[in-house]
Amino acid sequence: MQGTSRLAVSRLTGTVPRSIISSPASIVRAKPLEPSSSPIYPSRQFHNADKMAADGFLKLMTERRSFYPLNKEIPVTPERVMEIVKTAIHQTPSSFNSQSNRVLVLFGTDHEKLWDITAEDLRAVVPADHWEPTGKKMAMFKAAAGTVLFFDDQTVVESMQQRFGLYADRFPIWASQSNGMLQFALWTSLVAEGLGANLQHYNPLIDEKVVAEWKVPAIWKLNAQLVFGGRTAPADPKTFEPIENIVKVSGI
Ligand SMILES: Cc1cc2nc3c(=O)[nH]c(=O)nc-3n(C[C@H](O)[C@H](O)[C@H](O)COP(=O)(O)O)c2cc1C
Repeated sequence: MQGTSRLAVSRLTGTVPRSIISSPASIVRAKPLEPSSSPIYPSRQFHNADKMAADGFLKLMTERRSFYPLNKEIPVTPERVMEIVKTAIHQTPSSFNSQSNRVLVLFGTDHEKLWDITAEDLRAVVPADHWEPTGKKMAMFKAAAGTVLFFDDQTVVESMQQRFGLYADRFPIWASQSNGMLQFALWTSLVAEGLGANLQHYNPLIDEKVVAEWKVPAIWKLNAQLVFGGRTAPADPKTFEPIENIVKVSGI
C-alpha cells in the first residue's frame, strides 16, 4: 500500500525509442507470411512478422500508465472487460502450466463496497488526525468503475510443492511472478481499450472481509487490486533510469 505521496518503486522499464515503435523501415522490411520449412526454426519471413507484432505490443506497454482519478464512464461494456480478463488469465504463463492465478472482478455497487470496506479497515489503523488524505484516496478509488482483485490459489501452489519437491521453495515465488504477469497483461489491455487503471495493495488488511463478502475460497491469497474506470486526467510525468545502467548485452 502506498501513502499520499506514492512510493518510488524500482523502475526496470527502459524507454522504447520512437524509431523502434513506429519505424516505417520495419514496415517495409515486413514480408507476407510464407510456410516455414521447419516448425522449430521458423523462416526469416516469420521473424519479420514477429517484429511487426512486437512493435505494437511495445507501444501498448509504453502507453500503459498509472491513471488515478477515474470515473464510472468506461468506453467498453462490462462484458468486453470480462472477455479481456478471461483471455488474459488463460494466456498468462505459469510455472509448469500450474495455472495458480485467480481473479474476482467487481463492478458497480460491489466495487464501491470494496472501497467502503477498505476505508473501514483503514480507519481502525490510521490515526484520526491523518485520516483526511486517506479518506480522499478511498473516495477516489470508489469513484472508479470497477476493481480486479488478483489471487494465487494456494491449493495449486501446495500441490505443485508436493509433486515437485526439488522446487518446493520456488513455487510460491513463481506463483507470485505469474500473478504479476497477469496484473501487467490486464492493466495494459484495459488501457489499450481506452480505460484508465491503477494498481493498489490493501492486502492483507482487507483479506478476511473480501472472503466473507464475495465468498472466494479462503485458500486464495490476495495479491493486488487493479482499480479501473474512465480516465479523467493524464498520467503523471515519468522518469527513467539511463538505459546503459540497467541493460547489459554480450555476444552481438
Ligand atoms: C509491484 C507493484 C506495486 C505497486 N504498488 C502500488 C500501490 O500500492 N499503489 C499505487 O498507487 N501504485 C502502485 N504501483 C504503481 C507504480 O507506482 C507505478 O507503476 C510506477 O510509479 C510507474 O508509473 P506508471 O505505472 O505510470 O508507469 C505499483 C506497481 C508495481 C509494479
